[in-house]
Amino acid sequence: MKDLFDRIKDDKGPLGKWSKQAEGYYIFPKLEGNISNRMIFNGKRVVTWSINDYLGLANHPEVIKADGEAAMEHGMAYPMGARMMSGHTKYHEQLEQECAEFVDKDAAYLVNFGYQGMVSAIDALVTKNDVIVYDMDTHACIIDGVRLHAGKRFVYRHNDITSFEKNMQRATRMAEKTGGGILVISEGVFGMRGEQGRLAEIIALKEKYNFRLLVDDAHGFGTLGEGGRGTGFEQGVQDGIDVYFATFAKAMAGIGAFFAGDKDVIQFLQYNMRSQMFAKSLPMAMVKGALKRLDMIRTMPELKDKLWEITNALQNGLRNAGFDLGTTKTCITPVFLKGEIPEAMAMVHDLRENHGIFCSIVVYPVIPKGLIILRLIPTAAHTLEDIEETITAFSAIRSKLESGVYKEIGAKML
Ligand SMILES: Cc1ncc(COP(=O)(O)O)c(C=O)c1O
Repeated sequence: MKDLFDRIKDDKGPLGKWSKQAEGYYIFPKLEGNISNRMIFNGKRVVTWSINDYLGLANHPEVIKADGEAAMEHGMAYPMGARMMSGHTKYHEQLEQECAEFVDKDAAYLVNFGYQGMVSAIDALVTKNDVIVYDMDTHACIIDGVRLHAGKRFVYRHNDITSFEKNMQRATRMAEKTGGGILVISEGVFGMRGEQGRLAEIIALKEKYNFRLLVDDAHGFGTLGEGGRGTGFEQGVQDGIDVYFATFAKAMAGIGAFFAGDKDVIQFLQYNMRSQMFAKSLPMAMVKGALKRLDMIRTMPELKDKLWEITNALQNGLRNAGFDLGTTKTCITPVFLKGEIPEAMAMVHDLRENHGIFCSIVVYPVIPKGLIILRLIPTAAHTLEDIEETITAFSAIRSKLESGVYKEIGAKML
């Protein structure tokens, strides 16, 4: 009989197998200094395009002050226990009420991590008789929530309404047989390539099919729609979203997340999301810190305006320099290039060491073989100078990529 760990020695997993070459640099890099447009990597100051601090709140003095004061008053432990048992406070309730009002829903419920919350919400919303229909490119938290589902699921091609309809027809036939309902899941903004989910078209199909819609708006909250109220507002269809989800880990520069919807649905989640029933509630510093951040988003529209000024300058500048940004309709700025993994590693090394630019790199198996995405996240803290330096650097590395320089260097790195 095999020892359980034999497999782990032989097969370290799709990312783990690169650990020797990549750890500490491409995987688990350490960005140091205050969160801002320029941070320290590998001892050098770099323009940082890899942090989802869209509104530049992470290092805002008012945010630091609010977080610090809450931590001084309550420590990092209070309240202890799960919300249901001993971890409930009036501030958690206040934040829920304010989040619900902000996204124009009846009620909201906080979860301590978006990922776990999403897994549990999907688990709670469906029984084995229900059917899930979801976009192929959704975030891992949705995929893992769907994995828990004991009933049928249908996946549609990414943002493809014809494929969506085909799968809705299958799902409808199935649900009629089992006597269940249908849960559709999309993202408001797809985090890798930056497209908006086709929420308006999906919601229009409620006329034809009977389903409820759950939207993960992790990247849309704070960045899209009037006042930063999210993708539902951007597309004028917030009413058609039955369960709205946003995390505090991006535009809110914090930790935690929330679900919002009709009172009875939110109350059901409150009593049935296992990851929240059996885990400690959000610490007070996070809750008071989130109240402060939400207030700033409401009262400082200039933060979102600045984010979009930077986003437009970055995306227009890159497009004018001939770069392919795909079909992004959000701040997320993917730069599509062609090359293999070793070339990508050599190119990013050059970008970081010689041009002082730090961005995320996406390769196979996340995207098809032969494609490289350099993914840039603009924020309100970036400057036009950052953009200029970045476009100059990108033009230089593209020439080297196309002339095969990185192929040679990359082969030696492996
Ligand atoms: C689309 C999406 N959903 C959910 C999450 C998870 O949120 P959290 O970081 O709060 O666990 C993320 C990443 O942070 C995300 O990008």
